[in-house]
This record gives sequence, C-alpha cells and structure tokens, in this order.
Amino acid sequence: MKALVTGAAGFIGSSIARRLLSEGHTVIGVDALTDYYSIELKQQNLSETQAENFTFVHADLNELDLDELLVGVGIIFHEAGQPGVRKSWGDDFAIYTSQNVNATQRLLEAAKRSKSLKRLVYASSSSLYGDAQSYPTAETDLPQPISPYGVSKLAAEHLCTLYGRNFGVPTVSLRYFTVYGPRQRPDMAFTRFIRAALVGDEISIFGTGEQIRDFTYIDDVVEANMLAAFTDSVEPGAVFNVAGGSSISVNEVLDVIEGIAGHPLRINRIGSVPGDVFRTGGLTREIELALGWKAKVPIEDGIALQFDWGRSVFLDH
Ligand code: NAD
Ligand code: UGA
Repeated sequence: MKALVTGAAGFIGSSIARRLLSEGHTVIGVDALTDYYSIELKQQNLSETQAENFTFVHADLNELDLDELLVGVGIIFHEAGQPGVRKSWGDDFAIYTSQNVNATQRLLEAAKRSKSLKRLVYASSSSLYGDAQSYPTAETDLPQPISPYGVSKLAAEHLCTLYGRNFGVPTVSLRYFTVYGPRQRPDMAFTRFIRAALVGDEISIFGTGEQIRDFTYIDDVVEANMLAAFTDSVEPGAVFNVAGGSSISVNEVLDVIEGIAGHPLRINRIGSVPGDVFRTGGLTREIELALGWKAKVPIEDGIALQFDWGRSVFLDH
C-alpha cells in the first residue's frame, strides 16, 4: 500500500512513517519543516525514516500540487499542523488557521478528486473539548474549546467529517490526548521536565500543577492510526477518542520523574496560562468497539521509556 504521511518530520508523523516502513509499505512523507521548533530536530526525525521505500517531499501543503502528490496513494495520515495550545493567541492565530484549517481543506479537496484513496486519517485533538461537559468525555459531548488552537483543530475536524458525509471522502478523525514518548516535541511538558531533570535546570510549572491529563503513549497512538487506516468497516466521517487511560496530575508526573532521576527536581511554579484546560480524560469505548483499540502502555512505563530516550539525547556521551 502506498501511504502519504503529512507532517512526516514531526513527532507523530515520523513515528507513523517508521512503523509503515517497517511493515514494508511505500511511504511518501511531506513536511514544510516549519520553524515552530528546531529544524535540526525535524531533520533528526527524518534521518530515522531513511529507507528505499521512503520518499521525502519538502513542501508546504498550502502550495504543493496535491493532485500530483496523491497519484496512487491509498492512505493519508494527516499529521501536518501547527501544534501548541498556549501559543495560539494574538497574531500567531493566522499561522493556526493557515496550517490547520486551510491546509486541511486543500488536502480534502484533492482527496475528493482522488481515484485511489481508501482512507484519510486526521490528527484531531482532545483540546477541542476544552473544559469538558463530563469525564470521561465521550465523542458526542459538546466540543467547547478554550484555546484558538482548539478552535482550529475542531474546524479542521468538522471539515473532515463534512467531506466524508457530502462526498464520501473516507475520513477518520482521531482525537489524540496529549501524546508523549521518545521524540516528543521540545515545547511539551515531559520533554521539558525530563531534559531539566537530566541537566539540572529549573522546571517551570504553569499554575498549581494540579491539572490532569489523559496522557497517551506514542506507540499506542501509532497503533490507533494503523487500525483506523486498515479497518474496512469504518464509516466516512467517523470520529474517535485516542486516550491513554491515565488520569494523572502534572504534580504526580513530577513525582514519577523525580523517582526515576533519583534526585530532587528544581521546580519553579509560575502563573497559569490562558488556553490550558484543567482536565482531559477520554472515553475510549467507541474506538474499542469499532477498531479493537485500547491503550497498552501504562503511564509509569511510558515515562521511563521517554526518560531513557532523554538520556540518549540530552546527556553528552
Ligand atoms: P509536530 O510539530 O512535531 O509535527 C507537525 C509537522 O507538520 C511539523 O514537522 C511541521 O513542519 C509540519 N507542518 C506544519 N504545517 C505544514 C504545512 N502547511 N505543510 C507541510 N507540513 C507542515 O507536531 P506533533 O506533536 O507531531 O503533532 C502532529 C499532529 O497531531 C498535529 O496536527 C497536532 O495538532 C496533532 N496533535 C498532537 C498532539 C500531541 O500531543 N502531540 C495531540 C493532539 C493532536
Ligand atoms: C498537548 C499538545 O501540545 C497539543 O498539540 C495537543 O493538541 C494537546 O496535547 C491535545 O491533547 O489535544 P498539552 O496537554 O498542553 O497539549 O500538553 P503538554 O505541553 O505536554 O502539557 C501538559 C501539562 O503540563 C499542561 O497542563 C501544561 O500546562 C503543563 N506544563 C507544560 C507545565 O506546567 N510546564 C511546562 O513547561 C509545560
């Protein structure tokens, strides 16, 4: 099967690409290598996807000839986007609408014209629930994002659903809940905490640290993508939570990291940040019924695995 991974140089896209390549699929990876974080880190991710059956296209989805790109492509994993909940205010919102909404709409138009496409898996986000109606939150609960980022991810998800309903574009949206593990983005909590623990820097905690997340390990997220791509019975426009099953506060995460590090962490508590939701927690009954997916990696194991990766990248050897 020929697969297209958008955002292939990023944290999740590169992890999906490596899995596809290891299973012998032909993969096209497209990425604009945006400067949201270090381009060297994206190039490092790409260096780990080098294989005979991998082609990299360095381009922006808003500019590329997508009809040409999609020739013969059976599955699209649409991971490209501008991430980061806390930076989506002010003038930067234009980047979020461009990379998350406009690029997705452009891809969907090309997908509509494709003769070969069997599935388009969209990287949606738990951030669209905002401070949710209920916990664990079901896909049918009202989306009420509290960050501009969440608004942009919800708008793009709605586009996926309506191209599915109106034109039969075979979209599936996976609402990822805070993904972690090796190669996690440098702006995200665990990478920041683990790096600081290893090099002795101070960790900044936003607000009380009592905020709760349903963190999801990267391998579980990749597995959900594989099942969403290769399970035939999914209706176009489907939406599923991909949640790790952990309900753990940021303070409890610090305790786990301190235990692994074996020494006290240096913690600086600063003000809370607008757009940061207080709690996420996803019900995963629907994805279990439809795709047989359930998260496998317990949070303590996943943090230990990310800590090991951190040792290899943040310490001089
Ligand atoms: P990432 O920044 O590591 O990867 C995204 C990649 O997309 C980057 O390499 C960037 O250069 C590329 N990109 C951005 N705009 C592009 C464009 N117009 N054309 C081509 N490439 C473009 O982020 P990530 O953490 O891997 O997240 C991947 C996707 O999953 C994003 O859409 C994000 O919103 C979504 N998501 C992530 C999480 C998480 O916890 N990491 C949770 C929910 C949803
Ligand atoms: C993450 C991703 O960054 C988003 O791209 C994604 O869409 C979202 O998950 C999602 O699930 O949809 P977030 O939950 O904010 O967003 O992930 P982290 O950056 O790992 O933050 C987790 C918690 O740690 C937040 O409450 C944050 O306030 C806190 N934090 C983070 C700190 O206290 N200090 C830091 O330095 C970083």
